[in-house]
Amino acid sequence: MADEFDAKWAEFEAKCRACSNCGLRAGATNVVISRGGRHAPLMIIGEAPGEQEDLKGLPFVGRSGQLLQNLIDSYGFSEADYHICNIAKCRPPQNRRPTPQEIHACKPLLAEQFRLVKPKVILLCGSTAYEAFFGEKPVMKNVRGFFIEKNGYYIMTTYHPAFALRNPRNKLPIYEDMGKVRAKLTEIGAMPPLEPI
Ligand code: URA
Repeated sequence: MADEFDAKWAEFEAKCRACSNCGLRAGATNVVISRGGRHAPLMIIGEAPGEQEDLKGLPFVGRSGQLLQNLIDSYGFSEADYHICNIAKCRPPQNRRPTPQEIHACKPLLAEQFRLVKPKVILLCGSTAYEAFFGEKPVMKNVRGFFIEKNGYYIMTTYHPAFALRNPRNKLPIYEDMGKVRAKLTEIGAMPPLEPI
């Protein structure tokens, strides 16, 4: 069973690395697929790799990633509990947002990733992730902090961690939203309750 999953995952990664569905691959050092558990109850989705992510081949390993990781760690997640990825797997030049065409081109791979990871809860970080899911530009303060149930998933939107880098006060709403995600995972039996100490 584990061998079968490993083989499917290896096939998926190879497909991502060989992808040329849009122009971003040509300018990228690495295709950034994921970090964390490959089969996990929580999927955290950002926008696209930045410079550090492109160099290391891992999502959220730069300054935003450090902030995100601190939030994750403060809620007692182990690495196997979360799967971190992005809407686009290749770095856009100068860290611009991926275009709608690039997002569209990357979607089949993200859909395949969902089928492998089988998350129960999805945390969308930032407006690009929201737009890719719901097809409209959000006013972030109006769409964050609550669950939408769609196709059997509980989906929460929060601010992108880069928003909290701009002003540390912005960390609070992301922290609150992560707390709701953590509580939902306990409520649905996907993670044990948080210990008081
Ligand atoms: N910002 C993102 O949206 N994703 C990353 O992986 C890093 C920074």
